[in-house]
Amino acid sequence: MVEERSLTGKTILVTGGAGFIGSNLIHYLLENYSEIKIINLDKLTYAGNLDNLRDVETDPRYEFIQGDIRDRALVAKVIPKVQGIIHLAAETHVDRSILDAGEFILTDVFGTFVLLDVARQIGQLEFFLHVSTDEVYGSRETGYFSEDDALNPSSPYAASKAGADRLAHAYWVTYRLPVIIVRPSNNYGPYQYPEKFIPLFITNALEGKTLPLYGTGENVRDWLFVEDHCRALELVIKKGKIGEVYNIGANNEIPNIKVARQITQHLGKSEDLIKLVKDRPGHDQRYALDCQKIRRLGWAPQVSFEEGLQRTVEWYCQHEEWWRKIKEKSSDYRRFYKQYYQDR
Ligand SMILES: NC(=O)c1ccc[n+]([C@@H]2O[C@H](COP(=O)([O-])OP(=O)(O)OC[C@H]3O[C@@H](n4cnc5c(N)ncnc54)[C@H](O)[C@@H]3O)[C@@H](O)[C@H]2O)c1
Repeated sequence: MVEERSLTGKTILVTGGAGFIGSNLIHYLLENYSEIKIINLDKLTYAGNLDNLRDVETDPRYEFIQGDIRDRALVAKVIPKVQGIIHLAAETHVDRSILDAGEFILTDVFGTFVLLDVARQIGQLEFFLHVSTDEVYGSRETGYFSEDDALNPSSPYAASKAGADRLAHAYWVTYRLPVIIVRPSNNYGPYQYPEKFIPLFITNALEGKTLPLYGTGENVRDWLFVEDHCRALELVIKKGKIGEVYNIGANNEIPNIKVARQITQHLGKSEDLIKLVKDRPGHDQRYALDCQKIRRLGWAPQVSFEEGLQRTVEWYCQHEEWWRKIKEKSSDYRRFYKQYYQDR
């Protein structure tokens, strides 16, 4: 029996807290714990956005530090202040990793190494929650990956995450650093950067632009609403066994073409906006997770895909200023979009 850990009264370091999942998680923790302190260490790459956290920036329980997880001196100043780490900071977009994998290796692998190594040296942590991904398993036509299956990543992104995942595991095995690893499936919800599939399609549809769908659109993803993911992370911190890996998926396996159609329906737009484009190289056909282990801890998704998509579409409709600022003002966004989709 694992002794339950508490978040109350603790100071937690969230890396990558200005990104999509990180900002949702910070909101979730501040809403649910009156006595908690969160330190958000984020480099503010193109994907980090302080607009995601405007409503909490003056909250005395919240502190933001702009910095790089690869900066050992900085990390060594922050870790002694905390009892736990939730490590989310990463380069995360598969398409960008195909164009240039360098930053993925430097942040996802080397950055994770710096955090693990400093945490080992300082030695006071109660937990180090490493957020990996279902993409580390690679693709699978039928059946489900369980936590003991071999990792077989296909994209440079997934390979960099697999490297970090096994390094975190090695720090548990070798040094007894209190690591827990989670492998979540595709998240969706508010504050997701509009280069990712669901927010790209919602915002393009709102702008009357085409929805560029890879290949035949038959690739299958298991969609996890970000709030359900936050609840799973909370539960794993409290009840997860140190040294273990937990898959987190919602059993919402849906082909991309169906998701695209549902988006157009929610927005009252024509399906003609959907345009099949040249496939992503090395595109995994299907991700599917066996999640019995986390379900045994007591977690189950609470938000159906229909409800989650409805809430997500509404959020993007109500926060046009948020996504237009990125799509129209970020030269990085425009450069990437042009480079990636123009010739497809
Ligand atoms: N989004 C998903 O569907 C999904 C699914 C499974 C796992 N994950 C994992 O969850 C984590 C968060 O994903 P996300 O979708 O929120 O990502 P995101 O791209 O929205 O945010 C990443 C954040 O990390 C920050 N960052 C990047 N490099 C950094 C560095 N060197 N130092 C400090 N901060 C840095 C960025 O500024 C950004 O705020 C990642 O580790 C990702 O691999 C995501």
